[in-house]
Amino acid sequence: MSAAHRRSVILGTGSELPTKVVTNRDLERMVETSDEWITVRTGIKQRHVLEEGKGNADMAYHAAVRALADAGMEANDLDAIIMGTVTPDYLFPSSSCVLEDMLGARKAFSFDVNAACSGFLNALAVADSFIRTGQARTALVVGSDALSRLLKWDDRTTCILFGDGAGAVVLGTSEKGERGILSVRLRTDGSHVKTLYVPAGGSLKPTNPETVQNNEHTITMNGKEVFKVAVRSMEEISRQALKEAGLGIDQVALVIPHQANRRIIVALAERLGVPLEKVVVNVDKYGNTSAASVPVALDEARREGRIKPGDVVLLNAFGAGFAWGAAVVRF
Ligand code: ACO
Repeated sequence: MSAAHRRSVILGTGSELPTKVVTNRDLERMVETSDEWITVRTGIKQRHVLEEGKGNADMAYHAAVRALADAGMEANDLDAIIMGTVTPDYLFPSSSCVLEDMLGARKAFSFDVNAACSGFLNALAVADSFIRTGQARTALVVGSDALSRLLKWDDRTTCILFGDGAGAVVLGTSEKGERGILSVRLRTDGSHVKTLYVPAGGSLKPTNPETVQNNEHTITMNGKEVFKVAVRSMEEISRQALKEAGLGIDQVALVIPHQANRRIIVALAERLGVPLEKVVVNVDKYGNTSAASVPVALDEARREGRIKPGDVVLLNAFGAGFAWGAAVVRF
């Protein structure tokens, strides 16, 4: 069969949320905020936070083990491990290498992809390319982040928004080309780098006592600007991905958007003309888990029986960079 008919198919999914939960009521005791403000403005009620002493790969490991079990595969069956993350265990090497060792995936090559909240979609796009070109037959794609590690817990404009988690997908190869990933579209706009970023700790401003004193190792964000561009961009790229797949929005059974803010999701659904029943929303339970948000929601939707064989699912995400993307998948 020719490569033109080859597609990557989702064989299994898994997710992991840390056990520690921080509710809006907990946050009321930490900053000048209220459960009502957070609920009305964001739809978030609680978020999970990674325990002290654990790293990103600890979460990714559990998500990956579940995805492999769901796919009926073992770690040694994997050709590639690609993780979307901006909170790796170490500055280097990649968390994918840490994960590869934890899993005992001896045949796989592994690396991380940095595209913030869009990290899972970017990792999915890379893995999909490896599979379609025949460089890999199987791949583990992970979105895993612990943004709690980058928060100023006394800044009410950011600390209420984020949570930690990991989601994973096992991809295999289909030569028939009927189901699987039908299209992936990615975009970035680097003119917005400083709209949402962590100022210090990189090569431009390495860690020193002053950067620590000034709290420059934490998330700095213009929330209003992010909101405005996120809705517009996710609508546009979703339409592009659907066009490339040769499908209309009415043929989509389920939309799985990035879970940043319920209002962003509702506005996006309205612009796409999709009823909310066809949109996965779990931001109330987890907050914005960055690269984990789409694969965690995908895994939940599958386990809740919301995706049937033959269904077309639209995934989309938007985050720092700005970086955004969309994918169309037939199950
Ligand atoms: N509790 C109570 N009051 C607050 C809080 C809080 N946690 N945070 C801000 N306020 C106050 C502000 O100080 C402001 O007070 P003022 O009017 O006296 O100045 C007032 O509430 C309104 O603040 P706004 O910033 O205008 O509130 P807005 O409706 O824009 O909501 C929010 C802010 C929730 C951050 C929103 O802009 C948003 O969700 N943006 C998207 C950000 C995002 O999702 N980033 C994640 C990464 S990218 C992505 O994933 C899409």
